[in-house]
Amino acid sequence: MVCRKLGFLGVLTAALLISYTTVADSAEGYTSVLPQQGDTVHLGVASCASSVCHGKAEKSQTRRVWLTEFRIWQVRDSHATAFDTLLTPASEDIARKLGIADASRAEVCLDCHSDNVAPALRGPKFQLSDGVGCEACHGGSEQWISSHTDDGVSYADNLDHGMYPTAAPDSRAQLCLSCHLGNADKFASHDIMGAGHPQLLFELSSFSINQPMHYAIDADYIQRKGDFTPIDFWLQGMAVAASSTLDLFDQQQTTSNSIFPELTFYQCDGCHQKTDRSFERVDAVWNAVPAGAVRLNDTPIRLFITAAIVLELEGANQALDQLDRLVLAASVKREDIVIHKTALVHSLTALQTQMSERSLLVKDLKRLREGFLALAASNKANYFSYAFNIFLAVNHLNAAIGDGALSEDDIRAWFTIVQTESAYNPRQFAAMAIEFLRRET
Ligand code: HEC
Ligand code: HEC
Ligand code: HEC
Ligand code: HEC
Repeated sequence: MVCRKLGFLGVLTAALLISYTTVADSAEGYTSVLPQQGDTVHLGVASCASSVCHGKAEKSQTRRVWLTEFRIWQVRDSHATAFDTLLTPASEDIARKLGIADASRAEVCLDCHSDNVAPALRGPKFQLSDGVGCEACHGGSEQWISSHTDDGVSYADNLDHGMYPTAAPDSRAQLCLSCHLGNADKFASHDIMGAGHPQLLFELSSFSINQPMHYAIDADYIQRKGDFTPIDFWLQGMAVAASSTLDLFDQQQTTSNSIFPELTFYQCDGCHQKTDRSFERVDAVWNAVPAGAVRLNDTPIRLFITAAIVLELEGANQALDQLDRLVLAASVKREDIVIHKTALVHSLTALQTQMSERSLLVKDLKRLREGFLALAASNKANYFSYAFNIFLAVNHLNAAIGDGALSEDDIRAWFTIVQTESAYNPRQFAAMAIEFLRRET
């Protein structure tokens, strides 16, 4: 499986956005009901797209926002074609294998590939064929469309009227992950993957950069919406991904009607690797799992805990222990899953609170970069999505530190090893990390 377009250049541009200050979450205190779950009417993209609103050809010189957002979305953002994807031969093929007559009419596909709100909440200009439109992220606009352009209306006023808080890391992570990981209402199960759906890989900071940006993070934006760095999005995004993964895992364990647990929670290459390549079991948990068992894909959880350990947060080592127990239970003793999960959720919540209260200094970022390089060098990244996310972590940190310890060429060379699942080579990945570490010290 290929991570087709994860814009390598997009990943690199993180360097342009860096500043170190962390500022209070300007969306704090707002209940962030996801746009799809809200109870306000979605008026449709056409309601935002007029040439006097967000559909201008040239950036506005007088307003706070560009007003070209619709054009950017329509021309460059793959969310605009998410519905059209359901009409392609690839989707027809997936639908056929699943016994679905038409993917573009199936709720299971529409829930992530369009703004599939209840029919009663669709305004006169609303069209499902607009795909993931403005209101799928910014929330139904019924209550704020007329007021949000008035003079003196603040971001907080808009949020009060039901605009979704897309600016803050936690709430943005909840939003993006609802489709890029799944949630209680929508989920890309192994049946769907088995029918040919791409594996969902998501990392908040790089995906935020890779979505063609229709806004500028300038002084005015920071003043209105808060100052969040790519590192904040990376860390908080991972924390939310970790807790969302646990929630989903729990639900799917109990709702799956198959005799097997839901396989998308396990490491794909545990089953799908070529059998002529031995699967190296390099860490302690693995050694406790009997040969032949499949292992939970704990990527965001393990990485978040790794960051917490490097930063010496209280309870981080205990969380790692709880995660190891959960992984073991998920492979060999499924009746114990619930106990270990509950303990881990507690620990993660506490770690997330500590993390969000901590402002990171350059020396912390350097320790994190070294910590993640050491993880890569330890040869534990035998699993593709794990390695891929370690790469992104080091890349974000290296860009944020900006000391050039790893050059663009280094990053590019390392990226070629984790660019595709099929070509991923764990030994090369570790060898290059060892080389980077040796040079640094
Ligand atoms: C309503 C569901 C939904 C939400 C919410 C959503 N996405 Fe997406 N996203 C999709 C779908 C579906 C695609 C694939 C579109 C296609 O190619 O058909 C996609 C594609 C992308 C891509 C392109 C990926 C690639 O491999 O080319 C990026 C980047 C992205 N989304 C980032 C984000 C970010 C950042 C957020 C949160 C601010 C977000 N998305 C929220 C459904 C969603
Ligand atoms: C949980 C949300 C979710 C569900 C359910 C879902 N998709 Fe997707 N789909 C996505 C996302 C997100 C992407 C983009 C993945 C990426 O590039 O990172 C995607 C990508 C795709 C692609 C590849 C698009 C491309 O540009 O290469 C196809 C085809 C597709 N989906 C079809 C379907 C069909 C058909 C269904 C229903 C059977 C479906 N999807 C259900 C979220 C979902
Ligand atoms: C996949 C999610 C997504 C979609 C779809 C989307 N946006 Fe956004 N939008 C964001 C994010 C994330 C931000 C940045 C955070 C913020 O400013 O709240 C943003 C910011 C904005 C801003 C604020 C700029 C500023 O300086 O305050 C405007 C205006 C905007 N979007 C308009 C639109 C319009 C119009 C559409 C549809 C044509 C659209 N967006 C579609 C996610 C999305
Ligand atoms: C416990 C083992 C196991 C795990 C873990 C697992 N799969 Fe599968 N997968 C299977 C089996 C068994 C089949 C059916 C193979 C067949 O039909 O011959 C399958 C089929 C598939 C197929 C269809 C292959 C084909 O040739 O038609 C795809 C694609 C797929 N899985 C993707 C994934 C992805 C992506 C993940 C991780 C998110 C994953 N699988 C995790 C066991 C697993």
